[in-house]
Amino acid sequence: MATKKTVADVDVKGKRVLMRVDFNVPLEGGKITDDRRIVQAMPTIKSVVERGGRLVLMSHLGRPKGGPEAKYSLKPVSERLRELVNQCQAVPHPHGEGRNVTDLHIMKDPDEKSAQTRARVTFAEDCIGPQVEKLANDLRDGDVLLLENLRFHKEEEKNDPNFARQLAKLGDVYVNDAFGTAHREHASTFGAPQVMQGKPRVIGFLIQKELKFLGEAVTKPQRPFVAILGGAKVSDKIEVIKALLNKADLLLIGGAMAYTFFLGQNKQVGKSLVEKDKVDLARELLGQARGKIRLPVDNVISNEMTDTAKTSVVEGNIPAEMEGFDIGPKTRKLYADEIAKAKTIIWNGPMGVFEKKPFAEGTRAVAQAVADATAKSGAVSIIGGGDSAAAVEQMGLADKVSHVSTGGGASLEFLESGHFSTLDILD
Ligand code: 3PG
Ligand code: MG
Repeated sequence: MATKKTVADVDVKGKRVLMRVDFNVPLEGGKITDDRRIVQAMPTIKSVVERGGRLVLMSHLGRPKGGPEAKYSLKPVSERLRELVNQCQAVPHPHGEGRNVTDLHIMKDPDEKSAQTRARVTFAEDCIGPQVEKLANDLRDGDVLLLENLRFHKEEEKNDPNFARQLAKLGDVYVNDAFGTAHREHASTFGAPQVMQGKPRVIGFLIQKELKFLGEAVTKPQRPFVAILGGAKVSDKIEVIKALLNKADLLLIGGAMAYTFFLGQNKQVGKSLVEKDKVDLARELLGQARGKIRLPVDNVISNEMTDTAKTSVVEGNIPAEMEGFDIGPKTRKLYADEIAKAKTIIWNGPMGVFEKKPFAEGTRAVAQAVADATAKSGAVSIIGGGDSAAAVEQMGLADKVSHVSTGGGASLEFLESGHFSTLDILD
């Protein structure tokens, strides 16, 4: 992908900067349980605020059905955003050079910064319309306005041209820093920047950082290049498996999708989760793999997926009444040995049902092996977003890997195709 201009190349002073972010964060009972996507957008936000830009932020949250739904409101996000904007000092490494970049210095005492220098962070109850336009036009230099969930309008996902024009009215500059949504051609990611042709249209520092890590892994990986793929479904990962068979040296497979591959090898899987309609495809992928695909040699099985489940380990066939929920100890060791030799590691998808204690060990072992390879042999390690990002976070290893992506589906799509049409149209 060609090098892109970033927000650093634009003089934002006094301008309305319409910025797409991915604030699609997990919420439980109105509380944010993981604010990583907001934190990771802060370098770009701070850069605009500190240079006197007037920031209009837009995002989606969840998958509402095309109208307002209280549980998908971005209001709680605006509160967290206000705290972060006012707690952060200068941004030491906006370009995300190197690994384990500390993007932000969070002040210990928020009162360190006087009230006058705090940016105003406000929330708009909608994302288009005359009232929203007035809020955007009334912003002062350094103010931040967060718009309500874009997906409260079904036109967002349809990339409706009229909706895109209404969004485009809110900015003099367009910035995309929503890496997690870069694979969606929606009004806010595709239509609006097209309408804004002639105005500056650039990427933010988060997208720049994501492209640096993922781009280098795809185009010039240090070898051995080991990809670890897990999760429930083969169908989600077919294209990425095909792409990685050409690029990576080894693919380590875990999670329930391994059982669909087992069926492709005529093994018995008991009651394990499988995709029967993908068995032929799994067999085909194994045929094309020239030995590059590794499957589990043992599995943790049980007859229930609970926190107190009784488990056992089997090699080979899984008995009729049982289900596989995690990779077994021999597999963990085999995978860890391969990971230890790697110089580039990409991991997407957990090895088992890590949310349940009896089935967390496979994912934990892989996370530890990736962290160790990063520290000991200087491997570049990239964790695809979604569940595997949540897993390394939960295991306290997020800062022991080179890069934790904020995109799940987006990072997979980038590994497959090496570009995004939503970014191709930017300067
Ligand atoms: C994500 O979390 O995967 C992104 O925010 C995109 O959301 P979507 O899959 O609902 O389009
Ligand atoms: Mg997704």
